[in-house]
Amino acid sequence: MTTPSSLIAQIQEAADFISRETKITPQIGLILGSGLGVLADLIQQPIVIDYARIPHFPVSTVEGHAGELVVGEIEGKQVIIMKGRFHAYEGYGPETVSFPVRVMKALGVQTLIVTNAAGGINESYQVGDLMVIADHLNLTFKNPLIGPNDPALGVRFPDMSEAYSKRLRKLAHDVAASQDFKLQEGVYVGLLGPNYETPAEIRMFRTLGGDAVGMSTVPEVIVARHAGIEVLGFSCISNMASGILDQPLSHAEVMETTERVKPKFLKLVLGIISAL
Ligand code: 6GU
Repeated sequence: MTTPSSLIAQIQEAADFISRETKITPQIGLILGSGLGVLADLIQQPIVIDYARIPHFPVSTVEGHAGELVVGEIEGKQVIIMKGRFHAYEGYGPETVSFPVRVMKALGVQTLIVTNAAGGINESYQVGDLMVIADHLNLTFKNPLIGPNDPALGVRFPDMSEAYSKRLRKLAHDVAASQDFKLQEGVYVGLLGPNYETPAEIRMFRTLGGDAVGMSTVPEVIVARHAGIEVLGFSCISNMASGILDQPLSHAEVMETTERVKPKFLKLVLGIISAL
């Protein structure tokens, strides 16, 4: 296990490397999921750093996920974007998946916007809806904070009573309303994957209060809260979860929907960055 002092050294080395490549001090971090990385293309004069070049960064392997950090300005705000993220199903531990969030914190990030593609559990949702995450269920039963706790990184027992900022959720609804669409709000169920769920599992998650289901986000958000970063999360409902429609699930459908919803999603996130 990584001792806290060596973890801090690794965070610092990664942050120092990124600082040497850019003069920017980002206050806003973004982690963009499947097919949603286009936002990074809106940065003027972006500084692009391959994950492979950053000390201690893992390298992502999934189709549809690039693996680069993009740093620059959007809407006059300095941002750092993870274009492509790491997932537990790739074989990474939760502390590895969330390592980039630690690095963002070391670089000055105070607000984290996370996005993902998720299956709709709530039967009032439609494919293509955007959902602001109100809360999550950590059904990965893994935790990035397990092990010795260095108080320099956060408290031993972090509060999760407002994991997803109420203030930022309100802002998201206001921006969506100004763009004439209804943003759904719901509970994200985080699983390990990589298989999609069975219909019985989806019925169970619905009973437990879940509205959407996916394979990411939870470890990053736990670490962000541990680090005192304010979080805003969005799920793009890329497909209905299993057992709802009489059709099989596929990664192709996830990619097709995220592609189709891209413009609406981009406009929403840009509106929020602008208002922050
Ligand atoms: Cl239905 N389940 C999970 N675990 N992840 C997804 C999904 C479903 N749809 C998109 N991502």
